[in-house]
Order: sequence, then structure tokens, then C-alpha cells
Amino acid sequence: MFKRIQPIDQAIEIHFEDRLIRAQPGDSVAAALLAEGVKAFRQIERSNELRGPYCMIGNCFECLVEIDGRPNLQACQYRVRNGMKIRMQRGLRGGGSGDQS
Ligand code: FES
Repeated sequence: MFKRIQPIDQAIEIHFEDRLIRAQPGDSVAAALLAEGVKAFRQIERSNELRGPYCMIGNCFECLVEIDGRPNLQACQYRVRNGMKIRMQRGLRGGGSGDQS
């Protein structure tokens, strides 16, 4: 369970799946989602296993999501933007040759 060290003082709103989430400008997408209790960011196609962020520094690729219609983006490497629409990544998309996990 993740918890913010300080409360949000300038909230913006992002969307994850059908859920509205408040975030602090400057948050990474991964940090904003984790702070709101989201654990599953992607689903492995073959096994349906749910995965979430692990390293938070861009190395593990466990945090892949779809942001504003663009798949295969690392949630830990993108900053939140007001109105951003984030969806869970299901398998690999857009030229992937299959789920490598
Ligand atoms: S959490 Fe490891 S790449 Fe994003």
C-alpha cells in the first residue's frame, strides 16, 4: 500500500479505465495511480496475469499502460497531465511480436 507523504495541494484530474483520479502536478503516472490504490497496470496476454510497477526508474517495463490512445508507454516515465486518459495495457500492441513476459 502506497501513501502520499504530503497531501495534494493543486489537484488535477486523470482517468484510469473508468475511474477519476486526483493527482498532483509533477507526479509520474505510476506514482499517481499507486497513491490511489491502483496495483494492476497491465495484463499479460497468455496467462491473464496482472502486473504493476516494480523499479519506478524505467528499467523493468512492468508499468506499461496506454496513455491517450498510445500503447506501450512506461507509466513511471510520464508525468500526469490534466484530463489524461490512461488504460490498462493488455498484451503488447503496435508491432510487438507477442508478449515477452
Ligand atoms: S516501473 Fe519499471 S519501468 Fe516503470
